[in-house]
Amino acid sequence: MKKKWQLWIGGKWREAKSYEPLNNPHTEEELTQIGQAEPADAIEAIVEAHAAFQKFRDYPAHARAKILAKAATIMEERSEECAKIIALEGAKSIRNAREEISRTVQTYRFSAEAAKSNYGERIPMDAAEGGENRFGFTKRTPLGVVTAITPFNFPFNLVAHKVGPAIAAGNSIVLKPAEQTPLSSLFLAEVFKEAGLPDGVLNIIPGKGDVLSEALTTHPHVKKVTFTGSVEVGHLIQQQAGFRKLTLELGSNSPFIIDEGVDIDKIIERSVMGAFSYNGQVCISIQRIYVHQSLYEAFLERFVARTKQLVAGSPMDEKTNITAVISKKSLERLQEWLEEAVQEGAKLECGGKVKGNVMKPAVLTNVNRDSKVFRNEVFGPIVCIFPFDTLDEAIEDANDSRYGLNSGFISPSLERAFYAAERLETGGVIINDIPTYRIDNMPYGGWKDSGVGREGVKYAMNEMMEEKFISIKTSDE
Ligand code: SIN
Repeated sequence: MKKKWQLWIGGKWREAKSYEPLNNPHTEEELTQIGQAEPADAIEAIVEAHAAFQKFRDYPAHARAKILAKAATIMEERSEECAKIIALEGAKSIRNAREEISRTVQTYRFSAEAAKSNYGERIPMDAAEGGENRFGFTKRTPLGVVTAITPFNFPFNLVAHKVGPAIAAGNSIVLKPAEQTPLSSLFLAEVFKEAGLPDGVLNIIPGKGDVLSEALTTHPHVKKVTFTGSVEVGHLIQQQAGFRKLTLELGSNSPFIIDEGVDIDKIIERSVMGAFSYNGQVCISIQRIYVHQSLYEAFLERFVARTKQLVAGSPMDEKTNITAVISKKSLERLQEWLEEAVQEGAKLECGGKVKGNVMKPAVLTNVNRDSKVFRNEVFGPIVCIFPFDTLDEAIEDANDSRYGLNSGFISPSLERAFYAAERLETGGVIINDIPTYRIDNMPYGGWKDSGVGREGVKYAMNEMMEEKFISIKTSDE
């Protein structure tokens, strides 16, 4: 590991004015020092990206695809090294980290394919009087500089969901990675250099969001801002970005409804993983489980029993399920919310104890609907379980949320599955599985406060392009 990491601007490492230690959340040891970009560095990165775009915009699709495919192959060859970076800086269990890397490789491969399948549509001009003898079509063209602000929880794959589509579209990028996990992004500097990406197309500037966000959202060269993170920061970015194109992915408090007649033994493992994988620090983690009254007691008993078996430990240990949460601040917030929920009437069925930076996965029942663990996004190892009598009651409760990213519904009845799918107010409805389900080419994005726009490579790429209509008069008659 290098002792310090500079800023990656215009295809070169640049000295930063200041450096901050990056600590391993599990051991609290210092891993390295990270250069902290200032607004002037952000502006320099944007200017470099703008200059690089003038040439990159004319790169043919096959050349962009080749770069992306090569980057995917390099990452695949170095996948164990990449997984270890995630485990070290993000305290993600090594098994989950490996899964993330294999998804990341796929996201770059999807991006390579998307680069080659970017086309518009032919407009039937003669459908209206005056349209005769005209040929009309649309064409998508790249926007220019895209700024990407990314979260800590999938430091390779959620970056790939922004960098891959941006390159596929022919844009240039200024990437500000999460403060907690900048190493995964800085690693990309080498990957894309080796893959043949021209200098300046990808710039990586770690630093503090509140210091850099104005430059990244308001500079005149910036044509699109793509952000994954909290609702509060999302609102601020929206205000700053004005009429620029915007994608915001802002999290959720995902519901999972288990209907009558379901074989619960088949879903305990999936449900526990959906709630506690990476300590619940996933935007589509299960936060509210609604179980039909006829199954409630049995489900609760087995869910709690399986939760208690989860192994807490070092992210590097192959057996580990539960690890340190990302920061002390986050741990303190989770403890506060849990205590408050119990004071407000919830019953703690298991977990909640803290050792070091690890919180044992907590299962709550009888949760007050005004408690933060119900209303807000927990983003930690806490799940709430409720019984329900009628399907309408469960759907209404699931929809009682400011968020709407993914929901899950499981039932032996196709009719009830369609009924729920029509009524659940979320960007994705995952039938017969948990909401914590995503493959990287599916449309992914939220309703309500969960955000604006869609990711999932092709969808993200389309949102990183401008559509142009072209009409050609083919004859004077
Ligand atoms: C997220 O936390 O939004 C990403 C979830 C995923 O890609 O699996």
